[in-house]
Amino acid sequence: GIRIAVIGGGSSYTPELISGLLDVDDLAIEQVTLVDIPEGRDKMEIIRAFCQRLIDHSNKKFILQATCNRHQALADADFVLSQFRVGGLNARARDESIPLKYGVIGQETVGAGGFASALRTIPVALELARELEELNPAAWLINFTNPSGMITEALLRYQGIRTIGLCNVPITIERTIAEALHVSPDVISIDFLGLNHLSFARHVYVQGKDITPLVLEFLKNMSQEAVKNSVANIPKETWAPYLLDAVPMIPNPYLQYYWNTDVMLRKQLADIENGKGTRAIQVMAIEAELFKQYQNPQQVTLPELLMQRGGAYYSTVAVMLMESLALNKRREMVVNVKNDQALDVLPADSVVEVPAVIDGRGARAITMEPVPLEVKGLIQQVKAYEQLTIEAAVEGHRGKALAALLTNPLVPSSEIAHKILDDILRENAAYLPQF
Ligand code: NAD
Ligand code: G6P
Ligand code: MN
Ligand code: MN
Repeated sequence: GIRIAVIGGGSSYTPELISGLLDVDDLAIEQVTLVDIPEGRDKMEIIRAFCQRLIDHSNKKFILQATCNRHQALADADFVLSQFRVGGLNARARDESIPLKYGVIGQETVGAGGFASALRTIPVALELARELEELNPAAWLINFTNPSGMITEALLRYQGIRTIGLCNVPITIERTIAEALHVSPDVISIDFLGLNHLSFARHVYVQGKDITPLVLEFLKNMSQEAVKNSVANIPKETWAPYLLDAVPMIPNPYLQYYWNTDVMLRKQLADIENGKGTRAIQVMAIEAELFKQYQNPQQVTLPELLMQRGGAYYSTVAVMLMESLALNKRREMVVNVKNDQALDVLPADSVVEVPAVIDGRGARAITMEPVPLEVKGLIQQVKAYEQLTIEAAVEGHRGKALAALLTNPLVPSSEIAHKILDDILRENAAYLPQF
């Protein structure tokens, strides 16, 4: 049977994953081992106990364990699912608030906040992969740990383990479109291109027919109220019709930070002003309530509240990917993978978020039409930022770190980049031994 290790098993998302694993029929799952650090042990124990109730109330069975012994869990696993957060939500809250002090977008995965998170996370991810490669080189490392695209690229560049990066946004966009069109997601196929949290759905096909213009019309006509935003963590915003006419693709909701920077910044500052706090602060409250519900012995199904987390449905992609790899199902999925020839405007060895063919051998990116000029520059610039960030994180190189921030389109000037970098390095010193 299949053995899965979940790194960051104490995450409040883990029950969604367990529930997804209980729903698949064709994967013979033998055991799931949650792994966390000692600081996360108490949370993990609550998660383990609740997940065990989910298993007990299902007609599928597998062994569920929880441990802080990562070594043992890695040695045993066919799949290692990475979903940890270095420094926890407190570190995320700092990532989001430091840039805001300088009037710069404060977000956990894009801009200066994502940069800070990458500096903390890349060394831990590389160490995990090194250990896995040494113990168990045949295992698959499936990465959700954010910033997911950069973490996946760091793993591919610096470690030998087989890695595929995931995000819940592409499938969420697909499902939102399917719902709007009243068709099953199975008959929809979407041509995504770009990077993690910087992607575009270029073509939408229903049973092979290109219906992109219809979807764009639909997006233009949605009133502010009617918009079912595709992820819970990004403030609801519609796309202006003039924008969708100029760049006729469906933008990933994270594009709001790049293309409506002023609006998003005002919203973030207003949330500080009105006491709501940054998203990390809001998530802390959701999480506290989730853990309360998990501890209730009467609770034997997934809490509705989980849908208020931005990562909802992450388990759907995780399960689909493991199925395709384990059962050699040739299936097309949008994943973070080595570019090869998929995007003509990026080097072959950079990681991109595109449709790939998945089977027992792994994920191979599908070659796409040329990247439209309208988004080429942004994609190339953010990729350069990502590569500089990875090098800075690995080498503890201050110059590269500053250059990375300077290259990020959300950071406006060298003076501000310098000040933000100072704050980030100071406030994260405990997590940045490389600097
Ligand atoms: P969280 O703050 O609850 O962290 C999860 C767990 O990681 C915690 O229990 C913590 O103790 C543990 N942890 C911290 N450092 C660790 C380490 N070195 N080794 C092992 N465990 C460690 O975070 P969360 O909100 O549940 O999210 C978890 C991760 O998954 C984050 O990186 C988040 O960004 C990511 N995520 C990504 C997507 C995606 O689309 N790629 C979707 C959902 C979540
Ligand atoms: C999703 C992103 C994930 C991210 C999550 C944050 O949109 O794809 O990568 O982890 O949102 O959600 P949260 O509830 O933690 O703000
Ligand atoms: Mn994501
Ligand atoms: Mn077209």
